[in-house]
Amino acid sequence: MRFTIVKSIKAQQKLSRQLIRSGKSIAVVPTMGFLHDGHLSLIKKGLSKADIVITTIFVNPTQFAPGEDLTRYPRDEKGDLEKIKQAGSQIVFIPRLTDMYPDDYETYVDVENLTLTLEGESRLQHFKGVTTIVAKLFNIVQPDFALFGMKDYQQAAVITKMIKDLNWPTKIIVCPTVREKDGLAMSSRNSYLTPVQRKQATALYQSLILARQMVKSDERRPSEIRKSMRRLIKNAAPDSDIGYIAFTDLKTLEAKKEITKNTIASVAVNIGPVRLIDNMRIF
Ligand code: PAF
Repeated sequence: MRFTIVKSIKAQQKLSRQLIRSGKSIAVVPTMGFLHDGHLSLIKKGLSKADIVITTIFVNPTQFAPGEDLTRYPRDEKGDLEKIKQAGSQIVFIPRLTDMYPDDYETYVDVENLTLTLEGESRLQHFKGVTTIVAKLFNIVQPDFALFGMKDYQQAAVITKMIKDLNWPTKIIVCPTVREKDGLAMSSRNSYLTPVQRKQATALYQSLILARQMVKSDERRPSEIRKSMRRLIKNAAPDSDIGYIAFTDLKTLEAKKEITKNTIASVAVNIGPVRLIDNMRIF
């Protein structure tokens, strides 16, 4: 199929209906644009699962709190379209803000409990905005598969729960985090970092590697591992503000009192104006 850019909701719904009727399977890669190799890896995975990959670009205001970076969120529609085309995604859906959220908009989707910890603790309405926009995109695109990155693993868990609770037939596929050569997890927000902050930002990855090594050496106490991770981050980035260092169950996101199988270590660190998050399975 020829590369197609769709901006109207009705046109996308019609196109998805046509594709489904002609027996094509659809994968969706929801994005907020300013694409990097992490997004492109999701497109590639989508192409291995479905006939058609629809990439969506929409900077979703409802997932930003007042004072967050909504107005300066990086954008590059022209560059994105080129990358999406190169990666092989056949359709790009770029809805307009006023179509997605008209003035009288008042319906939200909220996953109640999984959203209370980690990112949800400091970003109160964030996940409600994410689940609402993802629900809307799924209703428009009608995907068989949807692809998300492991870097935002709480987001993936929350969306998976929404799908289960609302009996959506879409299968959620969570793909590995794509990293820069020095380990920094790729993120559109990395573009905010100054060269010095960019160097300091590798501390998140290094702290996760340290946690994994400690578990390999039989350390099972979260408090000890957290202490060492904190020290490493503070040494590398003295002015940083550590949001959390958490050890949770891969599926339930419950905090671990002792490191056992299926533990994910997660970190959130503010370096300069940028809130960086990363995670790694450490056992
Ligand atoms: O991960 C993101 O980029 C966003 O949270 C998503 C899933 C596209 C919803 O706006």
